[in-house]
Amino acid sequence: MTEAEIFEFFHNLGIVPVVKIDDASKAEKLAEAMVKGGIPCAEVTFRTDAAEEAIRRMSTAFPEMIVGAGTVLNPETAERAVKAGAKFIVSPGLDEDTVKWCQKNGVPVTPGVCTASEVQKGVNLGLKVLKFFPAESSGGVKMLKDLGGPFPQVKFMTTGGINPDNLEEYARAKNVLAVGGSWMVKADLINNDKWDEIEALCREAVTKLQGFEFAHFGINANGKDDAEDMTKKFSPFGMVPSATSKSFFMDKTIEIMNENGRGKHGHIGYKVNDVARTMNYVKSLGYTIAEDSFSYDAKGNVKFFYVNEEIGGFAIHFMAK
Ligand code: 3PG
Repeated sequence: MTEAEIFEFFHNLGIVPVVKIDDASKAEKLAEAMVKGGIPCAEVTFRTDAAEEAIRRMSTAFPEMIVGAGTVLNPETAERAVKAGAKFIVSPGLDEDTVKWCQKNGVPVTPGVCTASEVQKGVNLGLKVLKFFPAESSGGVKMLKDLGGPFPQVKFMTTGGINPDNLEEYARAKNVLAVGGSWMVKADLINNDKWDEIEALCREAVTKLQGFEFAHFGINANGKDDAEDMTKKFSPFGMVPSATSKSFFMDKTIEIMNENGRGKHGHIGYKVNDVARTMNYVKSLGYTIAEDSFSYDAKGNVKFFYVNEEIGGFAIHFMAK
């Protein structure tokens, strides 16, 4: 995978767990639980002697998994990690020699930064993605917004103090490529073989990242007259109609389609934080994407899509918040 593909993978998945593993013989079980939980990705930190062997075992047993190395403090460790199968390198701080070794060897690297000076140094080394660490103690989402002013070209991987309660605010921040953290793969969960719990925590994190919000129910009508007739029938319930080019909305929660829309009975619309990420997420659940339903924002990114499958005769679509 190229650097651009790895970073796109991070963005579409939205999360990179930070692993501290004490016993490499547990690496396969850990990888299996993470993949089952919907996170085929890990940053294995060189905070234990087992890191190198764990990277080797995880990438061999699950080649589809993107395994990288964290807490890489020097070029020698970066080299060991890459030889063991690491596909990306992460450091807690910015070390020029490590960055240059990675660039020379074509390995994506995200050094840690938490001040404008460090971001500037990273940018001048030619980096477009940096790790914002330690995120919560360095000002969190507010700091990220402020850094976005002078450095609009930089995207951040954010770790340090992120948990299920605050991950959504990070996921919504425009300059966050992906969030990271250790809560779903804590060392004691691994040491005590809590594979089901790890899987459940991974699944919870990936679901929360999407920020699903129910938007509206769509009802199919037999043409505009029928749709108009229905809007009149909803009005006594205090709902205010407004027309679009293809439907009437009653408040914002019921949409009456002028022509028979998708879905045997109609459709259900959800709002999400990031449409590309949710596309990746629903594909991982086995849905297929109805590409003929796409609509795009001004930058040419998909901002709306249906899946081909229906639930109880209702088509499902997702759109950007
Ligand atoms: C890291 O190295 O990125 C952090 O240790 C992860 O932070 P957390 O343990 O607070 O999630």
